[in-house]
Amino acid sequence: MTTLKDTLRSLRAMQATPPPFDPASAPQNPTDLFIDWLKSAVSAGALEPHSMTVSTIGLDGTPDARVVILKDLTDEGWWFASSSLSAKGQQLTARPSAALSFYWPEVGRAVRLRGPVTTASSEENANDFRRRSVGAKAVVIGAPQSEPLSGFAESEASIADARESLERDPQLVSETWTLWCVRPSSLEFWQSDPDREHIRVLYSLTDGHWTSGLLWP
Ligand SMILES: Cc1cc2nc3c(=O)[nH]c(=O)nc-3n(C[C@H](O)[C@H](O)[C@H](O)COP(=O)(O)O)c2cc1C
Repeated sequence: MTTLKDTLRSLRAMQATPPPFDPASAPQNPTDLFIDWLKSAVSAGALEPHSMTVSTIGLDGTPDARVVILKDLTDEGWWFASSSLSAKGQQLTARPSAALSFYWPEVGRAVRLRGPVTTASSEENANDFRRRSVGAKAVVIGAPQSEPLSGFAESEASIADARESLERDPQLVSETWTLWCVRPSSLEFWQSDPDREHIRVLYSLTDGHWTSGLLWP
């Protein structure tokens, strides 16, 4: 009988041949390298290359993590959006610090970064909310994310109510919709190698300047 362990061991990992990457000629600013790598994943046909794992510190001090969508990348940092009342929202309010990780199997590349987290202004949050579809707005207003749910009848009724409120007042904005920005103090770029001699480059921010160095695989 094939065990789950056998199945797992039979699965292949890191199958892609990564694009050429020479750390010696990598950009000095890691944001430029991130954009270059993200574009390489897009060009390689990666499915949802803008999805990323956000790790936070739970209210009990233990780690927590979930997948969200990268909404923007600016001079301030990496942006994502969610409800401030969600588990992650409460965790980030209590401890505004997070790690992000991306993996693009199509190009054998991964990026991780960590740093302090800030929120956008109320106006920016409201503007981002307004750009959502009616259905997506209704879910934010009618579904208290991460709260226990008694059953789908409860969520259907609550989201339908929110839809009606939005139809009555299309300018309605959720008070809880929040854009968070992770401003990294360090980033690691990892590229796979068939002989497991993976390339790892760590960028660290010191006194406002980026320095970079290699890490053992
Ligand atoms: C591909 C993907 C993208 C997602 N994007 C978001 C997002 O942008 N914002 C969000 O709040 N949840 C998003 N989710 C749902 C989250 O993973 C998570 O279930 C939700 O935010 C609740 O997390 P929390 O209880 O830790 O707050 C996404 C899930 C997946 C699989």
